[in-house]
Amino acid sequence: MKPVVILISGRGSNMEAIVQAGIPVAAVISNRPDAAGLAFAAARGIATAVVDHRSFASREAFDAGLATAVDRFQPALVVLAGFMRVLGEAFVKRYEGRMLNIHPSLLPSFPGLHTHRRALETGVRIHGCTVHFVTPELDHGPIVMQAAVPVLAGDDEKALAARVLAQEHRIYPQSVRWFIEDRLVIQGGAVRVTGMKAEQFLMAGGS
Ligand code: GRF
Repeated sequence: MKPVVILISGRGSNMEAIVQAGIPVAAVISNRPDAAGLAFAAARGIATAVVDHRSFASREAFDAGLATAVDRFQPALVVLAGFMRVLGEAFVKRYEGRMLNIHPSLLPSFPGLHTHRRALETGVRIHGCTVHFVTPELDHGPIVMQAAVPVLAGDDEKALAARVLAQEHRIYPQSVRWFIEDRLVIQGGAVRVTGMKAEQFLMAGGS
């Protein structure tokens, strides 16, 4: 199995879901020293590191410091799991085709922040989450998996976020597993999962 490095900034529940799915995680790296997820990883014997963005003079310098920390583990895949810093083009290009992100909306709807609030304000009936390869354009990039949830009458941001998060914990480990099994092929702007018929993909939870 190929080593995975996970980048977090806070709670780390997606990272937990990936670890608990039995994916081999070489390290968890946070840009915030107080990220709650670091304790979970350390308690499971996973290497942890902090690359504090506040101790770098520029975005480029932070990105370079982060790349050094990541490359120490020579990962096959970099997983952004609630990592709340925008990464520059040089960093993104360095890990092109081997960096995934999870975004709490059905992209291309609602890129950026406050997705649940915006979904409620817009009145969409269906919301969800997306796992995608990272490209220099924020919250774009070839889509690996999506999961949809209904927006229910009476939902507030918290209720909707919780419903989406449960799906994130399902589709992120699955997507990472497909990557480390070498089953994801990027063709043009789309991702094909090899060795699987369309109906099996639906069974696996791809919406
Ligand atoms: C998730 O909703 C993820 O989609 C978004 O930030 C949140 C991180 O949650 N990018 P956690 O740190 O994985 O619990």
